[in-house]
Amino acid sequence: MAATGTNSNGASAYYVTTPIYYVNDRPHLGHAYTTVAGDVLTRWHRQRGEKVWYLTGTDEHGQKIMRTADANGVTPQQWCDKLVEEAWKPLWQHLDIANDDFIRTTQERHTHRVQEFVQDLYDKGEIYQGGYEGPYCVGCEEYKTPGELLDGEGGAKLCPIHKRPVEMLKEENYFFKLSEYGPKLLEFYEANPGFIQPESARNEVLQFVRQGLQDLSISRSTFDWGIPIPWDPKHVIYVWVDALLNYATAVGYGADSAKFDATFPADVHLVGKDILRFHAVIWPAMLMAQGLPLPKRVVANGWLMVGGEKMSKSNLTGIAPQDLTSHFGVDAYRWYFLRAIQFGQDGSFSWEDFSARYTSELANDFGNLASRVAAMVGKYFGGALPAATAAGDAEQAVADGLARAVAEADRKIGEEIDFAGGIAAVFDFIKQVNGYLTEQEPWKVAKDGSPEGQARLATILYTAAESLRAIAVLLNPVMPGAAAKLWDSLGAEAALGALADQRIGEAAGWGLLPAGATVTKGDILFPRLEEKKDA
Ligand code: MSP
Repeated sequence: MAATGTNSNGASAYYVTTPIYYVNDRPHLGHAYTTVAGDVLTRWHRQRGEKVWYLTGTDEHGQKIMRTADANGVTPQQWCDKLVEEAWKPLWQHLDIANDDFIRTTQERHTHRVQEFVQDLYDKGEIYQGGYEGPYCVGCEEYKTPGELLDGEGGAKLCPIHKRPVEMLKEENYFFKLSEYGPKLLEFYEANPGFIQPESARNEVLQFVRQGLQDLSISRSTFDWGIPIPWDPKHVIYVWVDALLNYATAVGYGADSAKFDATFPADVHLVGKDILRFHAVIWPAMLMAQGLPLPKRVVANGWLMVGGEKMSKSNLTGIAPQDLTSHFGVDAYRWYFLRAIQFGQDGSFSWEDFSARYTSELANDFGNLASRVAAMVGKYFGGALPAATAAGDAEQAVADGLARAVAEADRKIGEEIDFAGGIAAVFDFIKQVNGYLTEQEPWKVAKDGSPEGQARLATILYTAAESLRAIAVLLNPVMPGAAAKLWDSLGAEAALGALADQRIGEAAGWGLLPAGATVTKGDILFPRLEEKKDA
């Protein structure tokens, strides 16, 4: 199912979400990976001229947060407030994340509506009281099935994700009749083959649901850091039911029907593969039970790995994004993980690979192209972009290459959510333009003082500058800082207006940058890396 940019109910926002992050700890590369991906997708659709709504936020209830707060001698609310303000929000600002909203599950706009939602389900007979006993992983905040546990030392049973012992929990809880939704979910997956991406994730979910679903325990009574069950406040609502509802409460569920109808459901829920079942099984079932529309797509990203394991703070392998941005810069950081890892697959972070790609693709291929062209327009034409009066086959080939790159990048990023493929299309075009300059040798043509020679020189430099104009538009969603510098150095703002207003579809148009535009050298886009100090 291709994204259309409009919701099926005719409303207009292309609605993108990230998971809401647990604030028991500070963010690491793995968290930032999804949020940057969502930001690129958002900015891409904005530049398609669509109305977009990008939501992120924090998941603040549950035992994991409560225990962390206890261990730090503060209340859970104090802990959350501190982490949100000191660690999470500043990181998103640092990484140039242009989210439209930031929801916290302790906000009243959320808690009240969650209670109403759950009360409604109770009134409809979708929730009943019962008992449950089973192994529970606090790291996942999830009951596990005995079959999926790993064997640890001394007969301990371990969570397959956290590799830490599970706890046996026995509770009188309220249950949601999830088991009744298996057939309806399978029907839905069948009718909407693009609902879960990638294919491997879809297969995993199908297999899981075909085995038969168990009812879901949706309340806890052994601790109190959560939203009280309205009809029985000794219980709090299970943190995952609470958390999933953020996607509805943040856009006005039960409070602002105009906003809700114009935004909900999500066009894309971006999630890590470890939380796929919550989004592709439990969440749709909750919405079906309430008669609400289902999301268009759930896209699972793989994990960033360290030493063969999922990067995580609890395993002490969590690297702070700032450790990399201080060396490579924010633009290169945003670019690298989406460029180097096929979205959906696991990928390992390596300092060496990042440095090598930075040097070859950003500093050499892209940065050098931009600075060489600006320097030559300065040197030979006093910084005024000359007109292309002698264009021929070679120039046509560049224009054709651009048209291909735009179509490919838009299909890959805008439709398929394949960031690596889309970015590769743009960087292949950059290579083509470099190849064009190498062949045309403007520095040699410049020595030919004849009118024909001057016309050729002007044409070559115009062609390269016009290519850079389109490259700035295409890379703006991925690296807004560098793209803005390039836009500036081409004098494009004065001639064409704000970069963010440039449409992806029109980027392939040829001859948009007018002759006479003021080209300046500007800052180097990607400075050479200094040796890492502690390497
Ligand atoms: N609070 C829940 C999500 C609720 S959404 C309604 C949660 N939070 S989390 O902070 O533990 O994880 C948030 C996201 O970060 C998940 O999508 C998870 O996959 C992702 N990542 C955490 N470590 C990761 C890597 N090492 N690599 C890539 N993403 C990983 O789960």
